[in-house]
Amino acid sequence: AARSLKSKTTILIGVIVPSFRLPFFADLIQSMETHAPSSVRMVFLSSPDNHLENTIHSLVERGVDALIFGRQFPNDKAIAQLLSKQNIPYLVLDQNNDEAARDKIIVDEFQGGSLVADHFVTLGHQKIAMVLPEMLTQNMLERQDGFLATLQKYDVNPIILTAEKLSKHGGFRMSQSVIDSQVTAVFAFNDEMAMGLMRGLVNLGMTIPGDISIAGYDDADYAEFFIPTLTTVTQPVFEIGSAVLSLILNRLKFPQSPPQIQKFQLKLVTRESTRKI
Ligand code: RIB
Repeated sequence: AARSLKSKTTILIGVIVPSFRLPFFADLIQSMETHAPSSVRMVFLSSPDNHLENTIHSLVERGVDALIFGRQFPNDKAIAQLLSKQNIPYLVLDQNNDEAARDKIIVDEFQGGSLVADHFVTLGHQKIAMVLPEMLTQNMLERQDGFLATLQKYDVNPIILTAEKLSKHGGFRMSQSVIDSQVTAVFAFNDEMAMGLMRGLVNLGMTIPGDISIAGYDDADYAEFFIPTLTTVTQPVFEIGSAVLSLILNRLKFPQSPPQIQKFQLKLVTRESTRKI
């Protein structure tokens, strides 16, 4: 049944993220909390893949007015139908895999990967590795494409090392493979992986960036406190949090308005973990 916003004084928004442990999502939540008008209540849930459908059902039963997916949209037609039948608009953030989505938040991930590749080559690196998780979300595929396409322009063929997970342990466990590959620079697919990898390499007697340069991705709040401080790609996560709220509130107010798209660029922050060779 169609629900009327006019009769409600507060708007309830459900936000689903893959994990609360990744700083990217902690920052996103903080940004949304900071930017939410007083009429908005939010409920934040983290959901591993196997619980996603249940999580969505329970949020719908609790009467959410809108949903925000910090993770991929479920590959399940029944869910899309349920949300449309209940008039619940939703927005998928940077991990967007939903072709039917009207409103979009777009982060130029191709550019993000490309910035790291340019940085390594400019510093003189030719033997380069990329450490990435087994399961790549759509945005990470673009991150990968940007990195590979740019290295290809310089005739550099990177070594691709696949970790089990996008996590500190995922990165940590790749340390020996990184050493065996004899590279001088590594792009870890997020700062968590970079952090784990750095610890693993140091445990095995390497120095960063003396022996190996490392770049991460996200610019988590701790990246500038690492020893050495971490070179990484800054995500506009605070801007994303504010944009997502205004897009979804606008959609609730004007359900028939044309598709809204917000695009964000990325930038590289150069710190101590990468060096010229
Ligand atoms: O660190 C978490 C990752 O998931 C980030 O790189 C961001 O792209 C998010 O989608």
